[in-house]
Amino acid sequence: MKPVLISGIQPSGRLHIGNYLGAIKNFLELQESGKYECLFFVADWHSLTENFDPKEKNEQIMDLAINFIALGINPNLATLFLQSHVLEHTELMWLLTSITPFGELSRMTQFKDKSARQEENVNVGLFTYPVLMAADILVYKAAFVPVGEDQLQHLEFARTLARKFNSKFGEVLVEPKSLMTATPKVMDLKEPKKKMSKSMPGGCLFIDDTEEEIRKKIMSATTDSETVVRYDDEKKPGLANLLRIYNALSSVAIADLENQYKDKNYSHFKKDLAEVVVNYFADFREKKMVWKKREEEVMGILNEGARKAKIMAGKNIADIRGKMGLV
Ligand code: TRP
Repeated sequence: MKPVLISGIQPSGRLHIGNYLGAIKNFLELQESGKYECLFFVADWHSLTENFDPKEKNEQIMDLAINFIALGINPNLATLFLQSHVLEHTELMWLLTSITPFGELSRMTQFKDKSARQEENVNVGLFTYPVLMAADILVYKAAFVPVGEDQLQHLEFARTLARKFNSKFGEVLVEPKSLMTATPKVMDLKEPKKKMSKSMPGGCLFIDDTEEEIRKKIMSATTDSETVVRYDDEKKPGLANLLRIYNALSSVAIADLENQYKDKNYSHFKKDLAEVVVNYFADFREKKMVWKKREEEVMGILNEGARKAKIMAGKNIADIRGKMGLV
C-alpha cells in the first residue's frame, strides 16, 4: 500500500493566493504524483477555537470544501472530507491527552500567540489544539504531512506523542514526517512588509476575486519611487513581492522577468501581472460558480470521503484502544 499523506485547512474565511501557494498548490501536485494515499480535510473542529458565528461558520465550511473541489482536489485520486464527520479523530485525541504533558502544551508558540490575540476567549480548545491535530494525523498512521512552517512545531509534537505512545503501550503509531515544499512568501500588496492576510482585504488577493478586483488591487499595489523592475527585497519590498507572485504563477524565473521588463515601466509590469493572475484563476472561478449551485453533490463527495476515512481510522483506532487495555 502507498504511504498515507494527510493535511487539513481551517475554514475561517476566504482563501488568498498566499494560502493557495502555501498549501493547496502543493496538495494538487502531491495528489497528481500518484505516490501517496492522499487525505485532505476541512479542519472545522479546529476552527471553533477562535471566535465564530455558527451561520458564518457553516458557510465557511462549505466554501472551503467547494474551493478544494474547484481547485482540483479530485475525489477519485484523494479522500476529501470534513474533520467533524470522522469521530475517530476525537476519540484518539482523548486517548492521547493521557500521555500529553500539560507543560508542553502551554509552551506551544501558537497557543501563546492566539491566547494573546483573544484574551477574552482563552478556551481549553485553543490549549488542546495540538492534541487534536496529532490525532488527525496519527489516527490514519500517516507517514507524510505537507504543512507550512507555522505548523512544524505541532507536527514535531505529534511525532513526540507517537514515540511516547509506542514506547509506553507497544508499536502501533507511525511517526509522521513533514513535507515542506518551497513556497514563496506572499506579502500584503499595500503594506509589503506585512504578510498577506484576509484581515487586510485591500492588499489581499483572494483566489475568488473578480477580474476587476484583481486588476484594481494589483494596479494600486505599493511599489517605490524608482522605475526599474528589479528584485530587491530590502529596498523594493513591494516590487519584490509582485515579482515573486508573477514567478509563482507563471514559472518564469525572476531573473528572466527582470530582463523582460528592463525597459518597461511599473504600470506595464503590473498590467501583465494582473493578466497572469486573472488567467491563472479563471478556470477555478468558473468551476467554483458551478459547484456553488451543486451543494448536494458537494455533500455527496464529502460523505463518501468521510466513509472511506472512517474505514481507515476505524481499523487503527481498534488497535490503539487494545494497546491501552480498553475492552
Ligand atoms: N493546524 C493546521 C493549520 O492551521 C490545520 C490542521 C489541523 C492540520 N489538523 C491538521 C494540518 C492535520 C495538517 C494535519 O494550518
